[in-house]
Amino acid sequence: MQLEDKVALVTGAGAGIGQATARLFAQRGARVIATDIDEAGLAETAGGHDNIVALTSDATSTAEIEKAVATAKDRFGALHMLINVVGGSRPGKTVLEYDDQEWDFWVSLNLTSTFRMCRAAIPLMAESGGGSIVNISSGAAVTGMGRNPAYVAAKGGVISLTRSLAIDHAAQGIRANCIAPGPILTPLMKRNRSEQEIAFMSKLSLVGRLGKPEEIAGTAAFLCSEDGAFINGELINVAGGRAGPV
Ligand SMILES: NC(=O)c1ccc[n+]([C@@H]2O[C@H](COP(=O)([O-])OP(=O)(O)OC[C@H]3O[C@@H](n4cnc5c(N)ncnc54)[C@H](O)[C@@H]3O)[C@@H](O)[C@H]2O)c1
Repeated sequence: MQLEDKVALVTGAGAGIGQATARLFAQRGARVIATDIDEAGLAETAGGHDNIVALTSDATSTAEIEKAVATAKDRFGALHMLINVVGGSRPGKTVLEYDDQEWDFWVSLNLTSTFRMCRAAIPLMAESGGGSIVNISSGAAVTGMGRNPAYVAAKGGVISLTRSLAIDHAAQGIRANCIAPGPILTPLMKRNRSEQEIAFMSKLSLVGRLGKPEEIAGTAAFLCSEDGAFINGELINVAGGRAGPV
């Protein structure tokens, strides 16, 4: 029960890594606001957990983000942990094939959403005595990835944004860290990659398989717990010892 008496807000909590994170934080004693645009996914996440509040909320909308933070205040009177999981991509293009609109869409979903969420949440976190932000970047931002430049650039921005957050909000007792997951078996992975590609990626990991969403959730929980109290402004690769770019 490492997260007992703490309040968490998890974005993208209707599937994959966000769903596993909301559930694990709840199992460890936190009260959780789980947000997503997928109502059915959220219902699945909250099922059986009295301490998860499911809230339909678009992470690219400032108004809906502010409502999510207000819900944390109304329901639980505080916010200590913010886990920015929302993101996604559709590989297949080089920069030559993007128009401005499509580029902006992926940057908004993966990077600007994180900025907006932090802007809305930090005042309540400070008022709550401080806490921990965990931003989900990607191993793709560390190694590069072919034919996915908007995602790679946005996720690189998430790493740099995290370092700024750590410096700017340390005095308010807020730590900020970033996780770069390697390939994790989630609905996103199944949408974007064929079975053959998944088998190939499994071999690139030194552990010999793709990661599980719960393994990213566990790292986020560690970073938010007292065990992670001296870790700030860091990038943690959770990629099974990946052998190189994919
Ligand atoms: N799966 C991987 O291999 C992998 C690797 C590296 C990084 N990541 C990152 O981890 C995060 C989670 O990935 P995943 O694989 O669990 O994805 P996923 O697609 O399985 O789940 C993402 C969730 O986000 C929700 N979502 C999408 N747009 C939203 C919006 N505008 N507002 C609110 N919710 C929205 C979806 O409904 C979904 O429930 C993403 O940021 C992704 O880029 C994933």
